[in-house]
Amino acid sequence: MCESTVERTTVTDSRLAIIVLAAGQGTRMKSSLPKLMHPLAGLPIISHVLATARALDAAHVITVLRHERERLAELVALDLPESLLVDQDEIPGTGRAVEQAVAALPADFDGDVLVISGDVPLLNAATLANFIEAHRERAEVSATVLSAFPTDVTGYGRIIRSDDGGFDRIVEHKDANDDERVVDEINAGVYIFGLSELRDQLARLTTDNVQGEKYLTDVIGLLRAAGSEVRAVPVADAWLVAGINDRAQLSDTAAKLNAVIVRGWQLAGVTVQDPATTWIDLKATLANDVTLLPGTQILGSTTVATGAIVGPDTTLLDCEIGEGATVKRTDGTLAVIGAGATVGPFAYLRPGTWLGADGKIGTFVETKNAVIGEGSKVPHLSYVGDATVGVHSNIGAGTIFANYDGVTKNPSVIGSHVRTGSHNVFVAPIRIGDGAYTGAGTVVRKDVQAGALAINVAPQRNMVGWVETNRPGTDAATAASQSGD
Ligand code: UD1
Ligand code: CA
Repeated sequence: MCESTVERTTVTDSRLAIIVLAAGQGTRMKSSLPKLMHPLAGLPIISHVLATARALDAAHVITVLRHERERLAELVALDLPESLLVDQDEIPGTGRAVEQAVAALPADFDGDVLVISGDVPLLNAATLANFIEAHRERAEVSATVLSAFPTDVTGYGRIIRSDDGGFDRIVEHKDANDDERVVDEINAGVYIFGLSELRDQLARLTTDNVQGEKYLTDVIGLLRAAGSEVRAVPVADAWLVAGINDRAQLSDTAAKLNAVIVRGWQLAGVTVQDPATTWIDLKATLANDVTLLPGTQILGSTTVATGAIVGPDTTLLDCEIGEGATVKRTDGTLAVIGAGATVGPFAYLRPGTWLGADGKIGTFVETKNAVIGEGSKVPHLSYVGDATVGVHSNIGAGTIFANYDGVTKNPSVIGSHVRTGSHNVFVAPIRIGDGAYTGAGTVVRKDVQAGALAINVAPQRNMVGWVETNRPGTDAATAASQSGD
C-alpha cells in the first residue's frame, strides 16, 4: 500500500525469501471476477501486496497460484516480474501452498521465509520490515506470527496462548470452540519462519480439520510440540492486516485505505471538504492548494495542478486538470483541462477531450475527441465530437457537431476567433475559417471561408390571423383576439 512513496531498499536481502499466497478460490466474494483482482483504490487487491513484496527486495519471491491462474499470472508479471510462479495442486489449504512454494526454493537458500497473503492488501513494507527485524533479533525463535486485536475477530484464526502468556497454537475460527472464539488476538496470516524447521513441519501437516485443508497455521502448533519457540508479535494498528474475504470486508478495507489516502493529501496541502464522500485512487496526484468539494472521485492516474477546484459531485478518471482550473459536477475520462479553464456544471468529458488554458466547457456539454483551443468556449447545451476548435472562438448555445454519418466518424475544424450562432449543426467533415461567423439555427453543410458569415435559414413568413381561423375557440385564439397587438 502506498508503495509509490516507500523507497525500495537498494540492498537485496539475501537471507530473505517471500511467499505470496494467491491460489485460493475466494468463494466468499461470490464473484466471477477473481477475488484478488477486485479493485481497491484503483488497483487490483493483489497489486497492493505485490508492491509491498517488491519493496522488501528479497533474494527470492514466489507467488502461489491456482484459481484463475492466467489472469493473476499476468498481473504478477507486470507488478513483480522477479517472482517465480508456483502452481498449487489439488490439495487445498495455505499449508499446501507454502509446502509447494518451499519446494521451489533453490537448494542453496537457507534464510528466512516470509509468508504473506494476497488478500491482506493494506500491510505495508515498513511494518513488514519491522516484523522481520523483530524475528531476527531473537535467534532462538523458529517462527514469528504477526497478530492483531481487531474490533471484529469473526473469521480469523485465533492466537491461543498458554497460561504463562507464551504462544501455543492457532485455531481456525471454524474449528474453534466457544472459549477459543472469545479470544480477541487474531492471526494476521503473516509469518516468518526459519527454512529448515518450516520444511520439517510442513511435511507433517494433515487435512484433518473442519475445512479438509492443509492449514499453514497448524505448523505453529507442530513447531511448539517439537519444542521450538514461536512468538506472536501484535501489529499496532489492526486495520493494517485486515483480510478481504467478502464484499463487506472489501468496502470496509477500501474505506479505510481511502481515509488514509485522503488524510495524506490533506497533510500535503490539499483541501478536502468532506473526506467521507471524497475518493482518491492510489495513483492519483494532487498539488498543494487544490480544493476537492464533496462527492468527488479522483480516479486512476488523474493529476490535479495547484489552485484547481474540483467538485462537488465530480468523477475524473485518468484526467489532467491544469493550474487554477474549476471542474464542477462533471464526469470526465482521459480529458486534459488547461490552466484557468472552467468546466461544468453538468459536463461530460469523454476520452480525447483537450481544453486549452482559460477555455470553457459549460453546462450540459458533452465532448469527445475534441481539441478546444486556448480561450475558446462551448458554454451551453452542446455536443462536440471529433472536432478541433482554434483559439478564442465561441460556440453558440445548443450546437451539435454531427460527426457520424451512420458509417464513419468525420472531423470538424473550426478556426480561431470564430463566432458561431446558437443552435447550429456542423455536418462533418467541415471547415470553418478563422474569424468566420454563422447565424443562429444554421445547418452548416459547406465549408465557410475565413471572415465569412454563413446563414442558410429560409426567410420567415408570418401568416397573420392563422390561429383565430384555424383554431377557433382555443385559449390561444381567445388570447390572440384579446391581444392589443
Ligand atoms: C487465513 C488463516 C487465518 C488468518 C487469516 C488472516 C489459514 C488456515 N488461516 O484464513 O488463521 O486469521 O488468513 O487473514 O491459513 N490460499 C492459497 N491456497 C489455498 C488456500 C488459500 O494460496 O489453498 C491463499 C488465498 O488466496 C489467500 C490466502 O491464502 O490469499 C489466505 O487464504 P484464505 O482462504 O483467505 O484464508 P482465511 O480463511 O482468511
Ligand atoms: Ca483471507
